[in-house]
Amino acid sequence: MTIRNLFLLPGDGIGPDIMSEVKKLINWMNQELGTGFEIDEGLVGGSAYDAHGAAISNGDMAKAMAADAVLFGAVGGPKWDKVPYDVRPEAGLLRLRKEMELFANLRPAICYPALADSSSLRKEVIEGLDILIVRELTGGVYFGEPKEITDLGNGQKRAVDTQIYDTFEIERIAGVAFELARTRDNRVCSMEKRNVMKSGVLWNEVVTDIHAAKYSDVILEHMLADAGGMQLVRAPKQFDVIVTDNLFGDMLSDVAAMLTGSLGMLPSASLGSPDPVSKQRKALYEPVHGSAPDISGLGKANPIAMIASFAMCLRYSFNMTKQADIVEKAISDVLESGKRTADIMSEGNTLLTTSEMGDAILAQMVSLSE
Ligand code: IPM
Ligand code: MG
Repeated sequence: MTIRNLFLLPGDGIGPDIMSEVKKLINWMNQELGTGFEIDEGLVGGSAYDAHGAAISNGDMAKAMAADAVLFGAVGGPKWDKVPYDVRPEAGLLRLRKEMELFANLRPAICYPALADSSSLRKEVIEGLDILIVRELTGGVYFGEPKEITDLGNGQKRAVDTQIYDTFEIERIAGVAFELARTRDNRVCSMEKRNVMKSGVLWNEVVTDIHAAKYSDVILEHMLADAGGMQLVRAPKQFDVIVTDNLFGDMLSDVAAMLTGSLGMLPSASLGSPDPVSKQRKALYEPVHGSAPDISGLGKANPIAMIASFAMCLRYSFNMTKQADIVEKAISDVLESGKRTADIMSEGNTLLTTSEMGDAILAQMVSLSE
């Protein structure tokens, strides 16, 4: 039997609550489908800081590097607001992304039909929405040096962050976007700020060149990132795949996520380059939402984004398309039947706890697998 190594990093806040629901699915798949997942678990974020004084220990980092895939919950919370910048909870996630070289962050924003009424936008604007944001994840202003605050000695300080992109970084993320577009509606919209930023000028040039050289069958459009944000809330269905840098991708993906009705619904995949020999990509899967410390442990968290992230893991790391389809269909069916966690609750529906939602999705998977 194939052994598939999963390394779980539940993290802080609701991270452990939602990860528990994924574990139910994994256990069931192992027992009933012989999927051979082997699970190991580590600490990241504030919980790692409390245990080791670092946002992720070297030992857990090594396990993440060795795993077939990492499932990540969420990090952060007011408890760690005062810890030194280098060991703040988010540093654990950033270290994972950087050292695993997870340069491609895939953030789908789909609108489940049952939730079309919970969006802040009119139903007709978002019904049937299916866009994919491809965010560059290991470069740009997140990691560029210098990154510092210096004391100017005259009562003033100066803060510097550095936006840097090299050709190869833009080429490889654009390549991912074009390849994925071919499996969808075959359209890519590239977003940058070439009217103000040199990195935007180069971004635009490199995307245009690689499109002409290798992907001219895909329809390519360029948009300034601010206009892109505006279009996302004006007419989001015009987009298929959006490719953009680390910082714009962070912002635009939160906007896109909220279009769908709840941030609690959206998964993401962060992928590296395929290994030249094994063809396996390093990968980490995480919900787009944060750690919501105010509701942790109360049974109020929505586990759907975490479960949908596991579905992406089945699809992208293990090529288990059929199982991934079943997980996604189970989520959609459960929503269709009116079951809701608190964040997406509305009149006439049934309120479930985190664990009841996990159970309901698993029960639906069982019946879809029969
Ligand atoms: C995200 C988050 C992270 C980011 C934080 C937690 C560092 O907002 O994954 O979108 O800014 O990338
Ligand atoms: Mg973000």
